[in-house]
Amino acid sequence: FKISNQKVVESCSSNIALIKYWGKYEGQIPANPSISFTLNHCKTNTEMEFFAAEEFSVQTYLAGNEEVKFAEKIEKYFKSIEVYLPWILKGKYIIKTENTFPHSSGIASSASGFGAIAKCLMSLDHNFNVDNQQATTDTQKTSFLARLGSGSACRSLYNGLVVWGKTEEVAESSNLFAVPYPNEEIHPVFKKFNDWVLLVHEGEKTVSSTVGHALMDDNAYAERRFEEAHENFKILKEILKTGDMKRFITFVEHEALTLHAMMMMSNPAYILMKSGTLEIINNIWEFRKETGLNIFFTLDAGANVHVLFPENEESDSIKSFIKEELLPSTQNGKMVMDEMSF
Ligand code: PMV
Repeated sequence: FKISNQKVVESCSSNIALIKYWGKYEGQIPANPSISFTLNHCKTNTEMEFFAAEEFSVQTYLAGNEEVKFAEKIEKYFKSIEVYLPWILKGKYIIKTENTFPHSSGIASSASGFGAIAKCLMSLDHNFNVDNQQATTDTQKTSFLARLGSGSACRSLYNGLVVWGKTEEVAESSNLFAVPYPNEEIHPVFKKFNDWVLLVHEGEKTVSSTVGHALMDDNAYAERRFEEAHENFKILKEILKTGDMKRFITFVEHEALTLHAMMMMSNPAYILMKSGTLEIINNIWEFRKETGLNIFFTLDAGANVHVLFPENEESDSIKSFIKEELLPSTQNGKMVMDEMSF
């Protein structure tokens, strides 16, 4: 099981879910299927150096600074995937990573981060094989590895709309790795979106995603939520096919609010939204009511707001609205302008 000393460099995008993954079972199996958009600009670039050695060790640097906590996370991850990569603990690693978006901005760096790490592992070992695990293409195998680092990371391996979790609505879907949503079933109105992320709160979240997923285990509303996510795939499929933007907007916002409602109904209950989050949501709703323009939001497990709007002749007035009316509700007037297109 030997591989040679090597240095590999990989890059991976972040993603934002439309149908959210929240709750999981043993072995990083999602409690419900999810679908996300891969972002064009928010990326993690990672350089991994491998030196064959008897003693396993990992050193990590984030934007040039040594990060011991991240190294511990990677060590734990590598130990968990030794069954798939038998050589993985027989070496010393120096991992240098940087995000193209602001550090601790609350943009899902675990998705792009673990996506990039999984790509590096795949480059170190081209012959990697996931026996009997259905993953056959290289991207599926990489997605399989990324999933074991962070669930949502497995969706970052593809562009555009990406599905993770078994659903009857997507033929090739799997709980073990992500697959692209069939392109021919997506109406052209959904093929280019702006995603401007308003940074309402920078820094550590009070409750991590790991703890959040675990709290779904005995959330009284969890089973209904998992069922709803399954039903939502059917609805979204129809919306994507017909190009019904108005329905898409209500749908995406409902999913975001459901994620946060689950947190509020956990035991113990917690709230990750801040007052700025609510101000922005209410402002978007008012502006949409007044103008009828297609601007809407989604949320990740945090306070920041992803403001979504299609790129077209109307987007100029939306852009001024965001800068003038929404930006003051952020912590330091900061936002990250991203987009998705495919
Ligand atoms: O990948 P994790 O374990 O950090 O979970 C994140 C889940 C959400 O970002 C809240 C939703 C999703 O589907 O990405």
